[in-house]
Amino acid sequence: MKQDFFKYQAQTTPHPLAIEVSYATGSYIYDTNNKKYLDFVAGVSACSLGHKHPRVIRAVKNQLDKYLHVMVYGEYIQQPAVELTKLLASHLPHPLEKTYLTNSGTEAIEGALKLARRVTGRSQIIAAKLAYHGNTMGSMSVMGYEERKQAFRPLIPDTSFITFNDEKEIQQITHKTAAVILETIQGGAGFIEPKYEYLKKVKKKCQEVGALLILDEIQPGFGRTGTLFGFQHYGIVPDIVVMGKGMGGGLPIGAFTASTTMMDQLQDNPKLGHITTFGGNPVIAAAALATLQEITESDVMAATLEKEKLFRSLLVHPLIKEIRGLGLMLAFITPSAEITNQVILKCQDHGLILFWLLFEPLAVRITPPLTISESEIREGCQIILTALDQILDNKI
Ligand SMILES: Cc1ncc(COP(=O)(O)O)c(C=O)c1O
Repeated sequence: MKQDFFKYQAQTTPHPLAIEVSYATGSYIYDTNNKKYLDFVAGVSACSLGHKHPRVIRAVKNQLDKYLHVMVYGEYIQQPAVELTKLLASHLPHPLEKTYLTNSGTEAIEGALKLARRVTGRSQIIAAKLAYHGNTMGSMSVMGYEERKQAFRPLIPDTSFITFNDEKEIQQITHKTAAVILETIQGGAGFIEPKYEYLKKVKKKCQEVGALLILDEIQPGFGRTGTLFGFQHYGIVPDIVVMGKGMGGGLPIGAFTASTTMMDQLQDNPKLGHITTFGGNPVIAAAALATLQEITESDVMAATLEKEKLFRSLLVHPLIKEIRGLGLMLAFITPSAEITNQVILKCQDHGLILFWLLFEPLAVRITPPLTISESEIREGCQIILTALDQILDNKI
């Protein structure tokens, strides 16, 4: 299979990790040699309830027996999508009420940017340096990392960038601004939390000038930081919230939610101004509904903060300079990119999956399933500490 993988399937880097997957369950992935890997990455924050969670599987199987795709998004009334958007509204603060379902995170970002332009009649979008919002043209236009987008220019015009957490630069938001888009917690940049009051100050400025605040919750969302959405820690409500990844319990989905008044403007002038074939797909919506029910009815969300404490107490080592993030969106920082690479590869050899962050070469990602157990956390951290000891020994 490996040869065919490299020959026929397009790659995103010259050196993919290339684990040959056989099956996955709970917090573990098994390869075709039946080697077992403890998963501290969860499909890059996507498998919020671990692999093959029984409630998600049951919901998918039930829906498979009823119907699959029947019509483009938004024309027919399909129970999974209706129940999902209704339940989501019940867990979101006013006025976030109406949700548009998409197939991926980046598409949801595209929709949110279009909605902001449509509602304000303005074009300028302000994003943050080192921001990541996805890889389609619009999302890439608001990516704050020139090196990765230069080759694809020209991108959409009238975008500009401010430094995340820099209060002075908030002044760049003006009456020309349609929207400010921020990750609530910057992911690719290295799991950078907003400083106290930063988001409140951005929101206040947006309100003063009539711009919208879009928060990208694609990574912190769906319980990963101990609340359903990360913004709930910071005492603000965005005008548009964008979600994805962990929302689908392992299936592809994205969504953006806004007030009814705003969202209804997408219906008309022009009508069909934002359409999708598969958004709201019934099987995927059923999986997302089961995921949301499980996350909000069980104790997994609250437990993430206890699990964070356990990680922080275990991951103490001379090669760990700092642990960043919140809940189960964590990254530890090593002294060099070389050590980061070594620890990720060594841990994979030893049966633990770790991963990089997009723009911070010193960071090692730890975003396990929210369902990970205390003993699994201990098992994985021991593998990390052993790998770091080996790296330290080799250097001395
Ligand atoms: C913060 C953030 N926004 C947007 C995206 C894009 O989501 P997708 O890969 O589903 O298009 C990602 C994916 O990594 C993300 O982390």
